[in-house]
Amino acid sequence: MPLVTSTEMFKKAYEGGYAIGAFNVNNMEIIQGIVEGATMEKSPLILQVSAGARRYANHTYLMKLIEAAVETSGLDVVVHLDHGPDFETCKSCIDGGFTSVMIDGSHLPFDENVKLTKQVVEYAHDHGVVVEGELGRLAGVEDDVKVSAEDSSYTRPEEVEEFVSRTGVDSLAIAIGTSHGAFKFKGEPQLRFDILEEVGKRLPNFPIVLHGASSVIPEYVDMINANGGKLDNAKGVPEDMLRKAASMAVCKINIDSDLRLAFTGTIRKHFSEHPDHFDPRQYLSEARTALRDMVRHKIVHVLGCDNKA
Ligand code: G3H
Ligand code: 13P
Ligand code: ZN
Repeated sequence: MPLVTSTEMFKKAYEGGYAIGAFNVNNMEIIQGIVEGATMEKSPLILQVSAGARRYANHTYLMKLIEAAVETSGLDVVVHLDHGPDFETCKSCIDGGFTSVMIDGSHLPFDENVKLTKQVVEYAHDHGVVVEGELGRLAGVEDDVKVSAEDSSYTRPEEVEEFVSRTGVDSLAIAIGTSHGAFKFKGEPQLRFDILEEVGKRLPNFPIVLHGASSVIPEYVDMINANGGKLDNAKGVPEDMLRKAASMAVCKINIDSDLRLAFTGTIRKHFSEHPDHFDPRQYLSEARTALRDMVRHKIVHVLGCDNKA
């Protein structure tokens, strides 16, 4: 089964009122866990690779692992660059077999964001690859970049039509109050659904992307804290809010932190229970299974994309 772009997936997701999960990958066990979960639930799938993941694991290693996973699963899979920082990184991923890239110009002034995004779109479209742009800025930590709450900003709906028409992007990430990492809200979680609704009206039938969409599931935060970790005040996006976003214009929901928490919590618990273990297969297989089940949970109870492959 070949890798695919997200065009058809998003069209069906938009019409069907569900979203596709975009899960971050960094190594073999993470790829296997995600693909196994999606295969069990017969779900379309986006595997996304950050610049940091490419530095950590090497582009070719990740690509070959993904190809192996796709070949054994028979699923339609999109390979997407998450938060592409510049044209060169996007070009390198396009040349290296990715079917989708994000160019993240959200920190730039509007016209510079348009210019950079358009440059990536022209190269990508010439090579049959689709592009996600971003308007508005999420708070939180991603890779080397830490955005404080004061520096974050909601998407301005009045800018989205001009951005999409001038750049030619295929999907748009917007900021409505989610943030990257495990500490998303100080008080009660609140999302600006009014912004999402207005963006949806201004861009009919256009796929919107939600970043920073982990729910920071308490089971795994507690597992980490009960086994020597220290994660105080961790808080994520409530699942009912994600389901609501998926029923609106949001077609892609990005999830990384929940996978990290499931993986790491399981490993911490494993070592608490088996202090004598040192074979990586013993703890990595348990972590892979926990991650797989997290993906299944997301697909069935949050995204609604089970049986849509
Ligand atoms: O939004 C960022 C993702 O969680 C990827 O994180 O850049 O640390 O790989 P990373
Ligand atoms: P989380 O940190 O909420 O998992 O968000 C991941 C993300 O947006 C990747 O681009
Ligand atoms: Zn993100």
